[in-house]
Amino acid sequence: MPPASLPTPRTALLVATLAALAFTCSAHAQQFRTGQVADSYAQNCASCHGANLQGGSAPSMLDDVWSVGGDPESLARAIRDGVPEKGMPAWGQVMEDKDVRAMVIYLQEQRTKFQNGQITFPAPADSISVQSELHTYQLNTWVGGLDEPYSLAFLSADRAIVTEKKGALYVIENGQRAAEPIKGLPEIFNQGQGGLYDVVPHPQYAQNGWIYFAFADPGEGGSMTRIVRGKLQGNELVDVQTIFQARADLYIPASARVHWGGRMVFDRDGMLFFSVGERGQRDHAQDVTRPNGKVHRLHDDGRIPAGNPFVGQADAVQSIWSFGHRNPQGLAFHPVTGALYDLEHGPRGGDELNHVEKGRNYGWPVITYGIEYSGAGITELTHKEGMEQPITYWVPSLAVCGMNFYTGDLFPQWKNHLFISSLAAEELRRLEIKDGQVVKQEIIFKGLGRIRHVVGGPDGALYAMLPNRIARIAPVQ
Ligand code: HEC
Repeated sequence: MPPASLPTPRTALLVATLAALAFTCSAHAQQFRTGQVADSYAQNCASCHGANLQGGSAPSMLDDVWSVGGDPESLARAIRDGVPEKGMPAWGQVMEDKDVRAMVIYLQEQRTKFQNGQITFPAPADSISVQSELHTYQLNTWVGGLDEPYSLAFLSADRAIVTEKKGALYVIENGQRAAEPIKGLPEIFNQGQGGLYDVVPHPQYAQNGWIYFAFADPGEGGSMTRIVRGKLQGNELVDVQTIFQARADLYIPASARVHWGGRMVFDRDGMLFFSVGERGQRDHAQDVTRPNGKVHRLHDDGRIPAGNPFVGQADAVQSIWSFGHRNPQGLAFHPVTGALYDLEHGPRGGDELNHVEKGRNYGWPVITYGIEYSGAGITELTHKEGMEQPITYWVPSLAVCGMNFYTGDLFPQWKNHLFISSLAAEELRRLEIKDGQVVKQEIIFKGLGRIRHVVGGPDGALYAMLPNRIARIAPVQ
């Protein structure tokens, strides 16, 4: 694959990386690796705390802000005992005391280096151009100055709205973010992985003006994924209606700060599908009396469709469409076959792409290809009768998030290919699906930061949500 143009060394590196990557999903689980402490940090901790300890889904280790106290004994205790309900695994079973001590010293050393200015993070390239397998493209910052953009919805050719995970919502007009956030959203639970997630316009938005939002709702009994819709009037959301809200007793205590799901998609008939992660309560994924760990289906106004699989079953949550999911952060319909796919953030080594069908059980936590973040096993089972197999899975995990099929005209060879985003791996990948199988994967770019979603624009470009900006991917001029 010959590099197209090499404006920066970073692009050269990127192109070289792309060229060097051949796809075989080499499937072996890593144990906790002792020895080089920087290695074992990279293997065991970087996926959440960041490759350079700068933070990611878990706090930074460099900023000297601690919830456990920054002294060596508190750090060692945090590592050994973890905070499982907040997503920090307990490592005491798999790390020897000497390894815990080495890790604490490593964390302290890195923090000191950072404070002395010996660790700095190179800013990711603002723009790159890459010759990928099927198309040469250019990536440019489209809108900057954002804080963890989560999703983007185009309302017309030159007007869009963007959600930020922390709970803010902005209009973007002609590629410019509005100065003030939109008012009128309900209160949002912005702790841990909780926040504001997807935004999707109604299929007949031009006629009815409805815009749908998924977010972590701070309820009385804790938090749960909730869906509302509203209309944009100037810079304010009005006529807000709840489309999905769990019963108060099914909310999960606020100490659990993981796995809300929060992706939505409409099918061709105007039915709304959305995902709710298992909220860190694994067994709930198999329990159809609970909303978490499920993909749901509702009419656009929140009514239960008569054809839902658990309608009439006493105690079952009537909106459930499929179950046994961990944290489905991507949902998309195949533009030709109409099949529904879910992209599921798994445990370590257990990210999955599933073909989601009515009433089916996708197995979590009874079957999985993943293991605990600590390296301990979850189950020996990867298959079980009555439980569905993923179409593909990733070992090691990419930490997958949002996805979309490409349906634009700017990149004809990408038509109907699936683009998936990832957090820890910082990759945008292109997948070709033929006869329900993934027959090809390509990394489109890597190393520009965590990617939460990828959306096709009305102009045929692809828009990727990067850590503090939206990047536009279009053919080289
Ligand atoms: C699956 C994600 C995940 C992995 C993997 C992980 N952590 Fe954590 N860690 C967290 C989260 C989330 C928190 C914050 C918990 C809280 O809010 O109390 C945390 C907190 C911590 C803290 C306390 C930080 C503070 O602010 O007080 C330390 C120390 C820590 N982790 C060390 C490690 C080390 C060392 C490893 C690797 C051996 C590791 N973590 C792997 C998610 C992770």
